[in-house]
Amino acid sequence: MILEARDISKEFKIEQGMFKSEAGRTLALDKVSFVLDEFTTLGVVGESGSGKTTLAKILLGLVPASSGEIVFNDKFIKDFRKDVQIIFQNPYNSLDPKMRIKDALYEPLLIHNILPRRSFRLKATELLNRVGLDESALERYPVQFSGGQRQRICIARAIACEPKLLVLDEPISSLDLTIQAKLLELFLELKREFNLTYIFISHNLCVIKYIADKVMVMHQGRVIEEASSSEIFASPSQEYTRELLEAAK
Ligand SMILES: Nc1ncnc2c1ncn2[C@@H]1O[C@H](COP(=O)(O)OP(=O)(O)O)[C@@H](O)[C@H]1O
Ligand SMILES: [Mg+2]
Repeated sequence: MILEARDISKEFKIEQGMFKSEAGRTLALDKVSFVLDEFTTLGVVGESGSGKTTLAKILLGLVPASSGEIVFNDKFIKDFRKDVQIIFQNPYNSLDPKMRIKDALYEPLLIHNILPRRSFRLKATELLNRVGLDESALERYPVQFSGGQRQRICIARAIACEPKLLVLDEPISSLDLTIQAKLLELFLELKREFNLTYIFISHNLCVIKYIADKVMVMHQGRVIEEASSSEIFASPSQEYTRELLEAAK
């Protein structure tokens, strides 16, 4: 086991008006618990608004949970910043447009103090090569790249500090189908090569079937079903899961 989530809940206040008075609350996550085995891929599916991104952000420590706890390799969440990285859906928002690609790649190396500065360029080039780009990308800016290429840069950045767990929040959903297929292959290769563990969030069940070992189905902030990928697709136990599968046909 690499990670365990215990009863994670998240309540958001809905604010309104000039004085931001509280107009209500949404329970985005309601006691979500799961265990993640090392070197596996946990697929997370559920319709829009079911709490997937909120869960991803809490796992990364980007948003605090209202209650519950996360244990990573027997440590509590604050100790593992470098070991867990995230890839978001939209590669257009994930890179700072004013930063050259080399600086975007140097940043995690600097923050985590991984290498001496003189080795940064070589490391950044290796990372780019690994995701299918070349050294010429270093001096360029995000605007000079397509969506698929930007996502490759985000992947290079995420693996720069040699993480153990990657949380992929709809990482290919915004891209063309042919590019989606290539990136899926890249994710599978990287997982093998770097012994990674994945949490792969997607509303596309075909993608989940292809990549996930276990699947967790979310609905209105709750985990309603969790099973091996083959079980979920062969004999879902919940009506909601059956509807999801039916809708994907
Ligand atoms: N910052 C926020 N403030 C208030 N409500 C939020 C915030 N982020 C998410 N929510 C609400 O939490 C619920 C889950 O959202 P989200 O985690 O983005 O779902 P998903 O990624 O599955 O589409 C939704 O009802 C959403 O409106
Ligand atoms: Mg989302």
